[in-house]
Amino acid sequence: MLLFKQVLPFQKHISKLKKEGKKIGFVPTMGALHQGHVSLIRQSLKDTDCTVSSIFVNPTQFNDPSDLQKYPRTPEKDLAELLNTGNQVLFMPDVTEVYPPSKKLKLDLDFGYLDQPMEGAHRPGHFAGVAQVVKRLIEIVKPHYLYMGQKDFQQFTIIQHMLNELKSPVKLIVCPIIRESDGLAMSSRNVLLTPQQRSLAPAIHQALQDAKMKIHAQFPRQIEAEALSQLSAQGLQPEYFSIVEGRTLRPVELFEETDFAVACTAVKIGNVRLIDNMILKEE
Ligand code: PAJ
Repeated sequence: MLLFKQVLPFQKHISKLKKEGKKIGFVPTMGALHQGHVSLIRQSLKDTDCTVSSIFVNPTQFNDPSDLQKYPRTPEKDLAELLNTGNQVLFMPDVTEVYPPSKKLKLDLDFGYLDQPMEGAHRPGHFAGVAQVVKRLIEIVKPHYLYMGQKDFQQFTIIQHMLNELKSPVKLIVCPIIRESDGLAMSSRNVLLTPQQRSLAPAIHQALQDAKMKIHAQFPRQIEAEALSQLSAQGLQPEYFSIVEGRTLRPVELFEETDFAVACTAVKIGNVRLIDNMILKEE
């Protein structure tokens, strides 16, 4: 595996591969890799000739400085995992490489309603930071394919919108959520849970599954209210549990009115904030 820390030599290498006609797949991450990340890399290895992943804890997407500070960083373990998976190129830049003071990198993109609800409402500025870094990274890498997880449903929806707005040739591939055996969605933040908090965490997946069971019998707003009280009763602090239309992210009023409904939730367990989602209806 080749490791690059600087933009110029990295770009030189990628453009050589592209000139040779190689298809490039790109997997952006913030490190602390787990099997969810690995699944994206595996999908890219299947689809493309060269898989490029990046590890960069992007400061501009953290609205809470203490969240940035405590974000898990496990570079040695990550390198071993990437070598083991067969990832071919790793880009691990410093902040100054991604955001050189000379470059104007502020993005003036309008996400319409997409960044208003859910994570957008609870983490002001978060998606502007995510879009800014993904745009910068894909400008550097210029991949054919970009791999992202369904785990961050609103994130990939916003990135697809950005690619459309920019008329980008990059094709976004969304990969399924990888879960622990008890249902907890894999996340870099899971390591921050104490054993007692970890034992509560599967309740999030349970609430999503229970919601899915109810779609033929109840209205979306009733299901949301029950999920919130179920999570609270189990000692978790849900921030939202929202049943939204999978393309517009607007609230679903009646399941009959949409062919694509997804439940998205953010839950705090102590100081650890976890997100998860489940497609309730898709045709
Ligand atoms: P990070 O949280 O490291 O996630 C990197 C990618 O892995 C994202 O596309 C995410 O959706 C995917 N992922 C995370 N957990 C997953 C799981 N359990 N199953 C499947 N895929 C999973 O998301 C980010 O980083 C950042 O916002 C980033 C896009 C890198 C921009 O900084």
